[in-house]
Amino acid sequence: MEKTFIMVKPDGLERRLTGEIIRRFENRGLILQEMKMLTPDRTLAEAHYAVHRERPFFGELVSFITSGPVVAMVWEGPDVIKLTRTMIGATKPAEALPGTIRGDYTAELQKNLIHGSDSPESAQYEIDLWFGSK
Ligand code: RTP
Ligand code: MG
Repeated sequence: MEKTFIMVKPDGLERRLTGEIIRRFENRGLILQEMKMLTPDRTLAEAHYAVHRERPFFGELVSFITSGPVVAMVWEGPDVIKLTRTMIGATKPAEALPGTIRGDYTAELQKNLIHGSDSPESAQYEIDLWFGSK
């Protein structure tokens, strides 16, 4: 069964939306495999977003992700990578449809509540990075 890495970002904890996010994935029938809460250090945050290293927003993105606790999770289910990306909603706020997590709870590009792996390769990389090889 496919696995993906999901992270509730610092704004999600601040807004007390962790339970709501977990509830949505559980209601959908996905299986929670791993979960931990931590404040990522710079090294972890930079490794997590390494693909965006050269982008102009990289510094801000790393500052935001290290600004407070996050909840890191591994979820399992059929086609779970694409399915959770669909449930999370688009990156651009105006394209995040109602019914998605971002579309229901945020209108901001940076404070967008949640991260989900975008491919099998990034899921494997991120699960290894946050939880060790699984
Ligand atoms: P994430 O990785 O956090 O799940 O978000 P995503 O796949 O929807 O978007 P991605 O392209 O991977 O970008 C990572 C995060 O960087 C911020 N971003 N800022 N200023 C900009 O043009 C810009 N583009 C992306 C967003 O906060 C996004 O979640
Ligand atoms: Mg991404």
